Amino acid sequence: MFERVKTVIAASSLGLVVMATAALAGPADDAIKARQACMKAHGGVMAVAVPVMKGEKPFDAAALKAAHDKEDAACAGWDGFWAENTMQGETAETWAKPEIWADMAGFQAAGGAWYEADQKLRAATDEASFKATFPAVGKGCQDCHEKFRRPKG
Ligand code: HEC
Repeated sequence: MFERVKTVIAASSLGLVVMATAALAGPADDAIKARQACMKAHGGVMAVAVPVMKGEKPFDAAALKAAHDKEDAACAGWDGFWAENTMQGETAETWAKPEIWADMAGFQAAGGAWYEADQKLRAATDEASFKATFPAVGKGCQDCHEKFRRPKG
């Protein structure tokens, strides 16, 4: 009886050691945080673009360029954000769905479709061309999120 209790204690403290190891931040956390920062910079572009689309603000090429520059900086490491071992973080929470790694070609295609639309938006020089090109960018974000991102909360 006593022996059994000891074994249970030994087993559960071993469990704690394993848990403590898993709770250390690591390389998957770095990639997850970097891709979330990239996504937040995408959000920065939206913050400039949406009020223009709603007619609340005039087209502002300089503000849009500043948001795109931040996006470029934050997303420069894109190719390194999605390694197989980043499906889960060591400590960081991720909303990336396993479908990304089950269908990497589909995920890359969704990224490519967004990128193509975004190139057209970046070429916009006035309100009319901006309004004509922005919806495809928004659709690019949405299409990828629907398939590859768990909703938050
Ligand atoms: C190719 C797919 C893809 C495209 C395109 C894409 N996203 Fe995401 N997005 C994701 C994935 C996957 C996550 C979850 C990342 C994670 O939690 O690890 C995410 C997360 C986010 C988040 C939450 C970030 C956080 O802090 O947790 C925001 C905001 C976001 N995306 C905005 C955008 C916007 C705006 C666009 C378009 C301008 C966009 N995304 C385009 C795949 C995409």
